Amino acid sequence: MSPRKLKEIGNTARALIPYGTTEGQTAKIVDVIADVIRDRGHTADAVDINGPSSTLPAGYDAVIVGASIHMGKHDKHVVEFVQKNHDTLEQLPSAFFSVSLAAHGDTGQAETYVDQFEEETGWRPDQVALFGGALLCTDYGFIKRHMMKKIAQDKPGNLGLDMSRDYVYTQWDAVKRFAEHFADRLKSTSP
Ligand SMILES: Cc1cc2nc3c(=O)[nH]c(=O)nc-3n(C[C@H](O)[C@H](O)[C@H](O)COP(=O)(O)O)c2cc1C
Repeated sequence: MSPRKLKEIGNTARALIPYGTTEGQTAKIVDVIADVIRDRGHTADAVDINGPSSTLPAGYDAVIVGASIHMGKHDKHVVEFVQKNHDTLEQLPSAFFSVSLAAHGDTGQAETYVDQFEEETGWRPDQVALFGGALLCTDYGFIKRHMMKKIAQDKPGNLGLDMSRDYVYTQWDAVKRFAEHFADRLKSTSP
């Protein structure tokens, strides 16, 4: 993120974390990120964007947006939220993280998802991360389970094919490092 965006933030920044989740994995990632940011002395407010897009509330110094991929697309409510708040996001220190199976073993595809997101929204976040998602087979209904088996078979990365159990591909250390990096950058130019 540019020093220009950072110089007015004091020791304690107020970060907003708007995110979109369908099966809950992105929400778990947000919890870890928010804890790291709070541990570094900042405030972090997580907001599940699951409806018509709203205006980013005033009073925040920094924003981390998170969204998961389904059928090759990021959560549409998050896309709309970013489109609506594009100008504000461009003015604040920002980061984006994308959650997908592709991030585990098919990084090229995961990067393409993010390129598409940036193209669709016109937003260029300062920091971007790709996190592996989860195959929560025991939560899926019959049709979704079979669809996910097909997706898992076709994707690189040796994804699990035993649909009677769950697989979590999120690398929690990478999530923590991403959040630490963001939090430290908020503090790095504090007076
Ligand atoms: C119906 C369905 C479709 C999915 N489609 C894709 C996909 O096209 N590409 C991909 O990389 N991951 C895909 N995934 C994997 C999700 O990104 C992964 O399960 C993630 O953890 C979901 O995050 P969430 O629980 O926060 O929504 C799909 C998952 C489901 C259930």
